[in-house]
Amino acid sequence: MSSSTPYKVLCVCLGNICRSPTAEVVLRHFCDEAQLNIQVDSAGTSNYHPGKAPDSRSQKHAKLRGYNLSSLRARQLTIQDFIDFDLILAMDYENLKNIQQLMAQAQRQFGTLRAQISLMSQYDGQYPQQEVPDPYYGGDAGFEHVLDQCESSSQAWVNFLQNQFKAQQNY
Ligand code: 4NP
Repeated sequence: MSSSTPYKVLCVCLGNICRSPTAEVVLRHFCDEAQLNIQVDSAGTSNYHPGKAPDSRSQKHAKLRGYNLSSLRARQLTIQDFIDFDLILAMDYENLKNIQQLMAQAQRQFGTLRAQISLMSQYDGQYPQQEVPDPYYGGDAGFEHVLDQCESSSQAWVNFLQNQFKAQQNY
């Protein structure tokens, strides 16, 4: 990563209206706080809610912690994302499987891809390799839990990426 080219991260869940928009805004906050040159976006593996704002419950709970999700709009993951992004983060193992399937399609179409795929919780010591549970059909506690995990995992990614960027500079 040079100082002028941002490193690009895409957070992915099923609907892109609960978990991944939350992850997008929380991860962006932690990256900005650490002054990392990272751009964050989000998408869904499904096309259930194209163009929709994040779920009102996600917005409400995020707002209680100072995060504003209101300007985000849902979109579906595309094969172009594997060319445009450096890192694609899956919220759960089903998302990961669906992302891997689309990645195979992108590979057939484009050959070499830019993106690496990982779990949101990959380096999170508090929730190691744990899924971010889907809060859509549950109550308030589920939305709070999504925020807890997104904050914890975002801090872990900032630590990981900071170390990776430093190592690249010294290389
Ligand atoms: P998300 O949650 O994947 O965290 O955005 C969901 C949103 C919508 C649906 C499922 C999960 N749905 O079935 O419409």
